[in-house]
Amino acid sequence: MSRILSVAALEAIQEHAAAFPDPRSALLPALHIAQDEVGYLPPAALEDVSQVLDIPYSDVEEVVSFYTMFYGDKVGKFVLEVCKTVPCGILGADEIVDHIAQALNISPGETTPDGLFTLLRVECLAGCHRAPVMQVNSRYYENLTKEKVDRLIDLMRSEARMWGDKKRETPLPARDNESAAR
Ligand code: FES
Repeated sequence: MSRILSVAALEAIQEHAAAFPDPRSALLPALHIAQDEVGYLPPAALEDVSQVLDIPYSDVEEVVSFYTMFYGDKVGKFVLEVCKTVPCGILGADEIVDHIAQALNISPGETTPDGLFTLLRVECLAGCHRAPVMQVNSRYYENLTKEKVDRLIDLMRSEARMWGDKKRETPLPARDNESAAR
């Protein structure tokens, strides 16, 4: 049987599954493991997860389509998800998106030709008190300004140069609203 996931990833999924009475409970961590390894979740990755957890492919597909944190299509090394819900909108999210789109020369929903950045608009990221908010991979950036975004893009480019093709989850400084992005 041909697989897209590495033996290490499959074993990690099995470990999660073994921790629950029903392997289905390990579906979310399994999908994270798969996405971290492949960069997104193509059908072959869903098939691997379905087989390892012994649950129907359609159930796996359903979960992937429900959560915006899972990507069915190839995305960039950095996925910039800008909140499009009203509080962020009132505080300038549209301008932030336009600014990023111009800086990267892409539209929302697109990935830069070098595969570094994908720009997406998403629903509330639960950081409304510090709007406008953007999530980049697993990290949050709040109280966004155009200047802060410019610094973040520079930082991400530096990270990419430093880390090359290594895994997508790159080590931007932790919770850097007040530090790296300042
Ligand atoms: S409205 Fe943007 S984070 Fe909630």
